Amino acid sequence: MSSIGEHGADFLVVANRLPVDLERLEDGTQRWKHSPGGLVSALEPFLRAHSGAWVGWPGIADAEVDAFEEDGLQLHPVGLSAAEVADYYEGFSNGTLWPLYHDVVAPPAFHRHWWNAYVRVNQRFADVTAKVAAQGATVWVQDYQLQLVPAMLRELRPDLRIGFFLHIPFPPVELFMQLPWRTEIIRGLLGADLVGFHRPGGAQNFLWLARRLVGLEPSRGAVGVRTRPGVVQVGDRTVRVGAFPISIDSSSLDALARSKEVQARAKQIREDLGNPKKILLGVDRLDYTKGIDVRLRALNELLVDGRVNPEDVAMVQLATPSRERVEHYKQMRGDIEQIVGRINGEFSTVGHPVVHYLHQSVDRKELAAFMTAADVMVVTPVRDGMNLVCKEYVATRYDLGGALVLSEFAGAAAELTSAFLVNPHDLDGVKNALEAALTVDPAEGRRRMRALRRQVLTHDVDRWARSFLDALGTQTAF
Ligand code: ADP
Ligand code: G6P
Repeated sequence: MSSIGEHGADFLVVANRLPVDLERLEDGTQRWKHSPGGLVSALEPFLRAHSGAWVGWPGIADAEVDAFEEDGLQLHPVGLSAAEVADYYEGFSNGTLWPLYHDVVAPPAFHRHWWNAYVRVNQRFADVTAKVAAQGATVWVQDYQLQLVPAMLRELRPDLRIGFFLHIPFPPVELFMQLPWRTEIIRGLLGADLVGFHRPGGAQNFLWLARRLVGLEPSRGAVGVRTRPGVVQVGDRTVRVGAFPISIDSSSLDALARSKEVQARAKQIREDLGNPKKILLGVDRLDYTKGIDVRLRALNELLVDGRVNPEDVAMVQLATPSRERVEHYKQMRGDIEQIVGRINGEFSTVGHPVVHYLHQSVDRKELAAFMTAADVMVVTPVRDGMNLVCKEYVATRYDLGGALVLSEFAGAAAELTSAFLVNPHDLDGVKNALEAALTVDPAEGRRRMRALRRQVLTHDVDRWARSFLDALGTQTAF
């Protein structure tokens, strides 16, 4: 597909973040690094394979960066001032929408100046996109930070085909109705030709709100997964509303895990940890929705109860720093570090801490090596739109080894039914599942992993993107 020409881009992704983040170093120089989070992990390989264009924020305030090409990808930066980072990004996106859409795990705050910044910044994203999109281009707008962009963009460029995908859960209507600007958000999304969610429930909720808040007459049939989208007529336009569960680049991760380098590194990690009988692993952005505290509390109680011997296990928790200036994140970091300290204080011996907590991001090879080394991967979010980490773990286990403990409240649980599924609010249940995963009979473990891999390898990110773009009816050949 040729996407960039004199006339502009034929296929664009618009997301709050670019796939690379600008970093200012102490010596005053700058460098680009890989952006955090599942949205970039999923979309970047697809976009690179199809030479698309990407409109997004370079990740720091007041950066003045011109459009540039990186490894076949055309990047169009959208600048944010420090006040906009505080009000639009940390404020309305991550202090209002993120907690509201994740079942108010933390209380959302409603501030008019945050909302005003959200409107202003969404308009800027729409303006930049309108300038760089070719006539009749396909524009794919991503996630909760940009819900007003579809309608704003349609106003500027009615010739475009516009898709929108929400990467986080769409909340129950009772929660959404708390939002003072609920009607504006629904109208913003209705500017798209196709609005996509991970699960049919999100699509149904959206259709209900289109009727209740905008007075439209949506279709009434049940929305299926990748099939039977809902339909709603908005003036002379037909908007489709569907469910498209996102995934990962499964085969490339499978291949990476099979490489000699990753296998050797996995062995080294096990040795560095003192060759414990069992390695438990958590990998997350440091976010209060991820239930990092849940798994640590469960492990602590298993150790206290004597059901797990501290000499037999090592738990590694990799936690990418995230949204560090937002209050709920500061609090949660303190809580988690306290639990880690308590477990290690009680149960570690010199040279053998039970919990290895790394407040760091690691590269893809290192991540694959940790996953290869892990006997039990623990994924316990209290709410998660999809969760890609659990799918990544499955993709690395070509040996059919390892066991996955997965929260029922992650979107992925609907697909990964052969995991050890847990309710993260039920601590006894989490303890039982951890113990079951640590002691699973090898044949039973292989049976489960085979079923998980069948799902993850056949439903990869390419299939997700194609199913969305087919439903959008894009004319571009992928
Ligand atoms: P979210 O998008 O909410 O962060 P996901 O599980 O969907 O959650 O995606 C997280 C992505 O970030 C995955 O690709 C995962 O491998 C990556 N990731 C999370 N924590 C780390 C870490 N400490 N080091 C490297 N990659 C990480
Ligand atoms: C989740 C969101 C993304 C976001 C990512 C990282 O995956 O769905 O939109 O980019 O987290 O969060 P951050 O706030 O650092 O962009």
